Amino acid sequence: MKAADLIGQIKQIDSYKRYGRVKRVVGLMIESQGPESSIGDVCFIHVGHNQKRKIQAEVVGFKEENIILMPYTSVNDISPGSLVEGSSKPLEIKVGSGLIGNVIDSLGNPLDGSSLPRGLSAVFTEQDPPNPLTRPPISEPIQVGVKMIDSLLTVGNGQRVGIFAGSGVGKSTLLGMVARNTKADLNVIALIGERGREVREFIERDLGPEGLSRSIVVVATSDQPALMRIKGAFTATAIAEYFRDKGLNVMLMMDSVTRVAMAQREVGLAIGEPPTTKGYTPSVFAILPKLLERTGTNMNGSITAFYTVLVDGDDMNEPIADAVRGILDGHFVLDRALANKGQYPALNVLKSVSRVMNQIVTDEHRKSAEKLRDLLSTYMNSEDLINIGAYKRGSSKQIDEAIRLYPEIINFMKQETSESVSIQDSMNELYRLIAD
Ligand SMILES: Nc1ncnc2c1ncn2[C@@H]1O[C@H](COP(=O)(O)OP(=O)(O)O)[C@@H](O)[C@H]1O
Ligand SMILES: [Mg+2]
Repeated sequence: MKAADLIGQIKQIDSYKRYGRVKRVVGLMIESQGPESSIGDVCFIHVGHNQKRKIQAEVVGFKEENIILMPYTSVNDISPGSLVEGSSKPLEIKVGSGLIGNVIDSLGNPLDGSSLPRGLSAVFTEQDPPNPLTRPPISEPIQVGVKMIDSLLTVGNGQRVGIFAGSGVGKSTLLGMVARNTKADLNVIALIGERGREVREFIERDLGPEGLSRSIVVVATSDQPALMRIKGAFTATAIAEYFRDKGLNVMLMMDSVTRVAMAQREVGLAIGEPPTTKGYTPSVFAILPKLLERTGTNMNGSITAFYTVLVDGDDMNEPIADAVRGILDGHFVLDRALANKGQYPALNVLKSVSRVMNQIVTDEHRKSAEKLRDLLSTYMNSEDLINIGAYKRGSSKQIDEAIRLYPEIINFMKQETSESVSIQDSMNELYRLIAD
């Protein structure tokens, strides 16, 4: 760069620091008179002895002349008159290939307290979704490495799928399998609102060292302030976007988007939004599309995404489940009844849909998958009769065939967590089963 250009740039730098003063603290909210700033801007509150320590906070609202801040970390030592320094920009994190294999927090700092590698670039955590008109359509499958998904619920490169399940039905195990077996170039995994013990179990048991070596994990545990749990989701998405723009096929997994919604509800209620369905505030339903529309394809690469949604007692019409299902291109349902029978992965194929599948697989593949669904649903419809011995063989050719193939179908769908299967092998196995 020429010296004249540099001088020009220096002249344009806003060298004023904007300050304000803390007026009130009510619960999670800090009211401050100044600095001049907009919603989403980051501020630093100077606290402690000599006001040397800085707490990072975000502008979440206004009240008369004052700004309302929410801290990213837990707050102590704030006193009336504490200095509030404005940064005039929203949250930024550092991203680059040096992050691969690391576990970081919502602000992009390594969770083990070590320092970040060099050579990272700064990106804003909030970004607009790709322009819908320039998004290439999803045209090819991506290997997930879970037999049942690759063969019966094929996922497209750049597809976004919700995984709906109660607790303890196998979400983490399934995501771990995908992370280890997928053909995506890189995994970005956001663990939001889990307890610390679950995070460790996921990283050590489900993901394992080989999974971690091709992943970046973003963690915001349940004990962290609501804002950190929300930011975790945005940070992970921004990291996935960075690598998508480098031309990679990224796999983003978020566990769970329900906890992000709950965190947003906490923030919403604290700043005085009215509660609507199930206490969720309007801003919850506003951030869901803002977050979920960012993944998918763009001109450079793709982000295939799995978002887990917690459903209590399998109530798929719970407001978050309903909203998420409407935004995504498919929903997979993990069924407690299957898990109780020891049938893992506990995916209920008949209740699950990949909305992209038919446009990305061959006719033979589609027909075979439909045939298997038919057989399975025929069996399920007559299961009670079959089990009590009330069904007489020979009464229906279709039911006879379903009964004959049922054990093989179940065998085909079961998969050990350590078992890695390529998409081609899954399809071949499906064809063989159907040809029987
Ligand atoms: N594919 C699988 N094979 C065998 N057991 C599984 C499988 N998936 C889940 N499980 C069992 O279910 C338990 C809970 O799974 P987990 O993935 O932690 O559930 P969630 O994340 O939904 O709470 C695991 O500890 C394991 O015993
Ligand atoms: Mg879990």
